[in-house]
Amino acid sequence: MNYKVTIRDKNAAFVVAMGKTILESALGQDIDFPHGCRSGNCGACKSILHSGDVEMSPYSDYALTSEEKERGLILACRSVPWSDCELSPIDEDEAIVHANRQLICEVIDLEQATHDIQIVRLKISAGGPYDFSAGQYAAVTFQDLPPRDYSMANIPADNILEFHIRLVPGGAVTPYVLNELKTGDQVLVQGPFGTAYYRDSHRGPIIAAAGGSGLAPIKSILDTAFAKGAKQPITLYFGVREERDLYMTDYFNELTNSRDNFDFIPVLSEPGSETKRRTGFLADAVAADFTDLDGYKAYLAGPPIMVESTVEKLKLLGLDRSDCHADAFYTEADKKKLEEKA
Ligand code: FES
Repeated sequence: MNYKVTIRDKNAAFVVAMGKTILESALGQDIDFPHGCRSGNCGACKSILHSGDVEMSPYSDYALTSEEKERGLILACRSVPWSDCELSPIDEDEAIVHANRQLICEVIDLEQATHDIQIVRLKISAGGPYDFSAGQYAAVTFQDLPPRDYSMANIPADNILEFHIRLVPGGAVTPYVLNELKTGDQVLVQGPFGTAYYRDSHRGPIIAAAGGSGLAPIKSILDTAFAKGAKQPITLYFGVREERDLYMTDYFNELTNSRDNFDFIPVLSEPGSETKRRTGFLADAVAADFTDLDGYKAYLAGPPIMVESTVEKLKLLGLDRSDCHADAFYTEADKKKLEEKA
């Protein structure tokens, strides 16, 4: 049995075969549909269901809150129709479309950024040009290992792709990247994906919050903003556990010294010893520094717990949810836990 799904105001309709999700069917029929993770974790495919019935498979509360679900919102990547449906993706006015590319790349540089983060730089050998928006990510495949999602840390105009890869102990991929990957190796990159990208039409102040290797997409966003001449106040919070987890501090300190509209604030959650740096949770540091975020935009990337708690704090400080663009980094273990929870 097939069902017809119509996208309101877009004059687009497509068929969804029994048991298939709305998103996979749309993309399979070359219908543009906003999406990111395709696994119920990012909220990029959130849509208003105007009519019809769907059944949703497990997803994270961050991607769709119970309140949003009660209001009739669904995640297209988790929704299997049980009747004909009519819906509207909610982020459609901000959707960007870049050609999805399969790139063959070569490792040209490896840099040990911290004890557990490796910066990998790649030259595109075939499949380009690669067009993406700052803040987006790609599926990266090393050798015959399963693909993993990593955000680009370079600005879109760069020819060299930069990824910040954190070791996931016991993981299937990252131990290889940190211990065995070498310059000259071939790497496959497919993308771009994701909707937590830089909106350059915004002229108000910006809060950027990065946890750990979440610094990668935030660096891309900030470098892009500055390259485009951003004049508004921009504050970057970089949350890590302890001093040894910080990296690129010289880079951002130099930016702070050379610009009067930029502040860089590292925050250590478990400093272990005496420190002159800010301590505590990143969300609390932001809340201590700001009282009203009306008119701001926020970009966040990092571990789900940090992203989710900071988004909640930002909303309490008056930030409109539509001005909050977040990319929570779910490991394969995180995704498994979500599946088990549901
Ligand atoms: S694409 Fe549906 S939640 Fe990410």
